[in-house]
Amino acid sequence: MRLSYFYLLIFAFAFFHLLPHTLLLAMYLQFSAKANALRATKGHRRISALTAYDYPSARLLDEAGIDLLLVGDSLGMVVLGFPDTTHVTLEHMLHHTAAVARAKPRALVLGDMPIHTYESPIQALATAKALMHAGADAVKLEGGVEHAETVRTITAAGIPVIGHIGMLPQHVIEEGGYHKKGKTPAALQQLLIDAQALTEAGVCAMVMESIIPSSATAITKSVPVPTIGIGCGETTCDGEVAVITDLLGSFPWFVPPFAKPEAQLAPQIIAAARAYHQRVITAKI
Ligand code: KIV
Repeated sequence: MRLSYFYLLIFAFAFFHLLPHTLLLAMYLQFSAKANALRATKGHRRISALTAYDYPSARLLDEAGIDLLLVGDSLGMVVLGFPDTTHVTLEHMLHHTAAVARAKPRALVLGDMPIHTYESPIQALATAKALMHAGADAVKLEGGVEHAETVRTITAAGIPVIGHIGMLPQHVIEEGGYHKKGKTPAALQQLLIDAQALTEAGVCAMVMESIIPSSATAITKSVPVPTIGIGCGETTCDGEVAVITDLLGSFPWFVPPFAKPEAQLAPQIIAAARAYHQRVITAKI
């Protein structure tokens, strides 16, 4: 009898000790499945990606069949009204990532790592874990070869990473604006080194922003993982990402030159609000 209690105790200890690890493993296998599927599209079909910052847009974009929902730190500008992405905090990102994840999209949910949250591999891993616990399927950080070790640390923990090279919006202040990248042979060479380093570190895809078309094409051909372009020309990458407000025409105060709106929601919202205002103030009590 005493012996069976002993075995029961051993079993209970092993069960409760291993349970969290088993659950984590199951979660990471699920993240990896979406990331592996994304990676496997290279050479087969193009990837459609849009930013999403809240529950209803995540549900609608998922229903439309979009492959990847990026909870981008662009939310700093188009949702929170900051002048650029350098004001975005991890708390902002967790709040919006959780809202998107609550839609339980079939699409891969990509959480952006905000500025100052991946300054060392250890800090980066903590940030990546926090975004995954908020519901992301993968995380994205800006930069190339200088972040290879960080990417290696995150992917070694079973968390899929997507890179981001070219124009890096988190560097907009020191660069004095949004400028095109890859304009000279030396600049292209550096981007090729960055893309190669990120690939070797284990990224499952990489965003390329505002790289001139010929350089974007050369980088796309040089890496075995899909490239997802924004402001790089339409057929230079393995997929395309757009900021949702640029697609919907709902943020008229800043529209990047490469934006291709499919709707003009801003005037419709104003017209609907005006009609409501008139209806309310003219109603007879
Ligand atoms: O934050 C974002 O929306 C992005 C895109 C510009 C790729 O990183």
